[in-house]
Amino acid sequence: MSANQTDPMIGRLIDGRYQVRSRIARGGMATVYLASDLRLERPVAVKIMHGHLADDENFKERFIQEARSAARLAHPNVVNVFDQGQDDESAYLVMEYLPGITLRELLQEHKVLTPDQATDILEAVLAGLAAAHKSGIVHRDLKPENVLLADDGRIKIGDFGLARAASANTATGAALLGTIAYLSPNSSPAASPTRAATSTRSASCSTRC
Ligand SMILES: Nc1ncnc2c1ncn2[C@@H]1O[C@H](COP(=O)(O)OP(=O)(O)O)[C@@H](O)[C@H]1O
Ligand SMILES: [Mg+2]
Repeated sequence: MSANQTDPMIGRLIDGRYQVRSRIARGGMATVYLASDLRLERPVAVKIMHGHLADDENFKERFIQEARSAARLAHPNVVNVFDQGQDDESAYLVMEYLPGITLRELLQEHKVLTPDQATDILEAVLAGLAAAHKSGIVHRDLKPENVLLADDGRIKIGDFGLARAASANTATGAALLGTIAYLSPNSSPAASPTRAATSTRSASCSTRC
């Protein structure tokens, strides 16, 4: 039996509006599905928090924050967020659907990118990051898995799940969030993990790591 056949979300109607069609990817905290927005009659990607995290208020808050961070940004190199809400116990966020692959998959397939590919991707990622930083948002989890390469050539940064306002208070000893392999050296627990430099370093690392 395929994963789609055993997933109880397939076929579900969320908030009377988003009909879940198939699973795109399942992560540690949420699953991303292809769905149909029945009101606007268009395909969308819906990220649904795992049910077992519904009781975790911190996580729920972070999930809602992801939607708000991304929704504040309107930039061609940042995934567009359309909506956010809660259905049953699960928080969800609705975004534009980008059929394609991630930068991680491209790297796995090609091992080495051509200089043109690398500069195209890096330019797009840096433009998206610059827009985020201008809005006072630091991504904090930039890595090839979170760079979406659409079939039509669009390159977009997704997964603002760990993003936070650069001005947010970061008490010493606060949890260090991110992916170890993509943290900058200055992101030790004693340093501020909200610094924009963290994401900028990850961007250059993303095209070759
Ligand atoms: N808007 C989208 N359109 C198409 N696929 C997406 C979209 N957003 C995410 N995905 C796919 O789902 C995967 C996980 O999404 P992500 O937001 O990074 O969740 P997680 O928090 O689990 O890492 C991505 O690596 C990508 O393959
Ligand atoms: Mg991700």
